Amino acid sequence: MASDPETGALLRTLAASKPGGRLLEMGTGTGMGTAWLLDGMDAEATLVTVDSSETNTSIARRFLGGDQRLAFHLGDGGEFLEAKRAEGAVYDLIFADTWPGKFECLETTLDLLRPGGLYVVDDLLPQPSWPPNHAEKVAAFLAAIEARPGLRLTRLDWSVGLLVAARSV
Ligand SMILES: C[S@@+](CC[C@H](N)C(=O)[O-])C[C@H]1O[C@@H](n2cnc3c(N)ncnc32)[C@H](O)[C@@H]1O
Repeated sequence: MASDPETGALLRTLAASKPGGRLLEMGTGTGMGTAWLLDGMDAEATLVTVDSSETNTSIARRFLGGDQRLAFHLGDGGEFLEAKRAEGAVYDLIFADTWPGKFECLETTLDLLRPGGLYVVDDLLPQPSWPPNHAEKVAAFLAAIEARPGLRLTRLDWSVGLLVAARSV
């Protein structure tokens, strides 16, 4: 499911606030969010986008693969996050748009956020496409992140339901 235009516009604005930044997208899909992020980034900023689907990644690569600021990572998101934490990698903005990074591996993901870095999540308002028990997963995610120290977060009941958090320490 591709990000909607409101989410995209917010991603572009937030990306523009990180000149020279290192950005990470969990869940490339067909590249909608990737395209918005790239449109906000300056020439020095870089973006890694991660997806386990070769089909989806190949579509995104077809349209966006010529952008030298962008690197695709094809593989499981949870394994990617663990590997990056082991390396000591840090990011200035993380858009978490798949299971790992949001409903799974939340602590690992937040460990990768630089102080002052932004963590962005969408799809938090109920949608007809949600599978059974998904509402419980969203509620558990919100409870966990709202209780987590070291973040300043805002929920936006707008678009598909968004959350933006800044790491304060
Ligand atoms: C909601 S879509 C991403 C949409 C995209 N960010 C956009 O803005 O249009 C979620 C993507 O996560 C991928 N995905 C599902 N499970 C995954 C996993 N364990 N690791 C990495 N990617 C995964 C799917 O293949 C799908 O392309």
